[in-house]
Amino acid sequence: MQRTHTCGELNAEKAGERVVLAGWVHHSRHHGGVLFVDLRDRYGRTQVTFRPESKQLFDRAEKLAHEDVIKIEGTVTVRPPEALNPEMPTGDIEVIAETLEILSKAKTPPFVIEDEVNASEETRLRYRYLDLRRPEMRDALLLRSRITQIAREYLTGLGFVDIETATLVRSTPEGARDFLVPSRKHKGKFYALPQSPQIYKQLLMIAGFDRYFQFARCYRDEDLRADRQLEFTQIDIEMSFVDEEDVLSMSEGLIARLIGEIEGVVLPLPLPRISFDDAILRYGTDKPDLRFGLEIADISESATQSGFNVFSSAVEKGGAVRAICAPGGATVSRKEIDELTAKAQKLGAKGLAHAKFENGELTGGVSKFFNENEKNSYLEILKPDNGSLILFVADSADICARVLGALRIELAKRLELIDETKWEAHFIVDFPMFERDEETGRLVARHHPFTQPIAEDIPLLKTDPMAVRARAYDLVLNGEEIAGGSIRTHDPETLRKVLAAVDLSQKSINEKFGFLIEALQFGAPPHGGIAFGYDRMVMLLAGRKSIRDVIAFPKTTAAQSLMDGTPNEVAEEQLAELGIKIIEDK
Ligand code: AMO
Ligand code: AMP
Repeated sequence: MQRTHTCGELNAEKAGERVVLAGWVHHSRHHGGVLFVDLRDRYGRTQVTFRPESKQLFDRAEKLAHEDVIKIEGTVTVRPPEALNPEMPTGDIEVIAETLEILSKAKTPPFVIEDEVNASEETRLRYRYLDLRRPEMRDALLLRSRITQIAREYLTGLGFVDIETATLVRSTPEGARDFLVPSRKHKGKFYALPQSPQIYKQLLMIAGFDRYFQFARCYRDEDLRADRQLEFTQIDIEMSFVDEEDVLSMSEGLIARLIGEIEGVVLPLPLPRISFDDAILRYGTDKPDLRFGLEIADISESATQSGFNVFSSAVEKGGAVRAICAPGGATVSRKEIDELTAKAQKLGAKGLAHAKFENGELTGGVSKFFNENEKNSYLEILKPDNGSLILFVADSADICARVLGALRIELAKRLELIDETKWEAHFIVDFPMFERDEETGRLVARHHPFTQPIAEDIPLLKTDPMAVRARAYDLVLNGEEIAGGSIRTHDPETLRKVLAAVDLSQKSINEKFGFLIEALQFGAPPHGGIAFGYDRMVMLLAGRKSIRDVIAFPKTTAAQSLMDGTPNEVAEEQLAELGIKIIEDK
């Protein structure tokens, strides 16, 4: 028998039993002539004691090194009272070793296998299998597995069926670059890795499956950040014969179940719904963190007659003046204001104006330029507490929102206004259907082109597409977008109109989406769905700051795996077989 118990389960009730344990040497120390070895596995740690009486065994045990893999046989013994360790689940007992077998010797690891690790993230990623031995990393993956189980139970309980879809697919437009896989059989042709199973799950609705879900791997060739990976997982969901409310209530039920079971916190339902326009105006972003206030206020109207030329001229040019008022912010130093200003400028602002509210009046910064009228009216709108800092941006509405949205978060961090124990979730609804691509200036679907426009806006597709609203929604948890979805267009003619609005000719519509449009002609139920960014969700529930911490083998922000050297060059013959020639960068 390899082992009778794990390293996490023995206690005083098992005293006197002969057991076999196997695991890693976590730590060993001499104490009063005996040798204590902490044996570790995924379940916990158990103290194994080698006594000097059995000299040969003791001598061998003394040579054990950190991370050696061993097997011991021995007797469970209650520790003397002074040696009890109530911090450890196995802290009541020790196992007095009678045999020792070394299953595998370990080289000295590049860092200690403890939560307090001082190695760089590079080193930890290079030796990921060692990093994953650390309790916090292990716990994150165990939690991930538990969340999967709860989500599966929840969805299957509601009648959803789990169906896998292909991962060598026709390229699907989710807005990122595709990863392409060359075809050997069809030289010059490519498969794409799915950015999401979007079209396929819609086809499953047409096939009549009614309620589908999948833990789907998605691939997007994007620039990576703490909350983005090249490949990530979605809990992908689609439902037939539904409206927004059906999808939203299923979704909020899922997140409430997870937060309830994992964090023991009751999330009051239904979750608030905030319109996109409102979110941008009040928080400067479509994924606001509402664990704190610091709402943005629009003071444009009062600023038209401002004594401060920067303000009045911004409004005159069709722009806006907006402000946030931070309670307790008046203590912020000159240096900090300079840092905030630099940040604002980096985000496109021409400057950042400030004033303080102390002893019942606006002081400092640009307040000297304000006339009495505007002062009163700002105070009425902003209602500052004594000791507040007020930050102003005068610019286009877009820049005001972007800059103040970022400063709102920055200030909340600096002033420690974020309650990290709080769980705040809401839906963002009433999204615009389209936006302009920043690089090309072209019209693109903000969610994806299969999203249904609001019926009354359909005539605007031709005349004023930027005014068209979408039946789309996002779910935001603690300031992270953790899910997004929409009600889909199931009428082929409307879909053609949407695709034409994003500048696709009828020819390329037929080429790219002909199969979907054809399918929609064979009896398509009204349908809609959503996809949860699973890694982000787990990251939040695990209390981590990066999705890399909840993914077993992630890529770095430079899109590499440091452990195995992915991406790597391949043999000439492999390329030749695919008919591919590498053109060197000049
Ligand atoms: P969307 O593109 O909004 O929608 O993606 C859904 C959710 O997936 C997460 N996500 C990511 N997570 C990690 N790394 C990435 N690179 C990444 N990109 C997105 C986000 C996001 O909310 N097919 C549609 C869904 C639908 O309409 O049903 C879709 O993929 O948390
Ligand atoms: P100036 O008169 O240019 O020295 O600017 C006075 C203050 O207003 C400085 O703190 C600038 O950073 C700030 N400022 C300049 N332009 C803007 C703007 N568009 N919005 C907000 N503040 C600005």
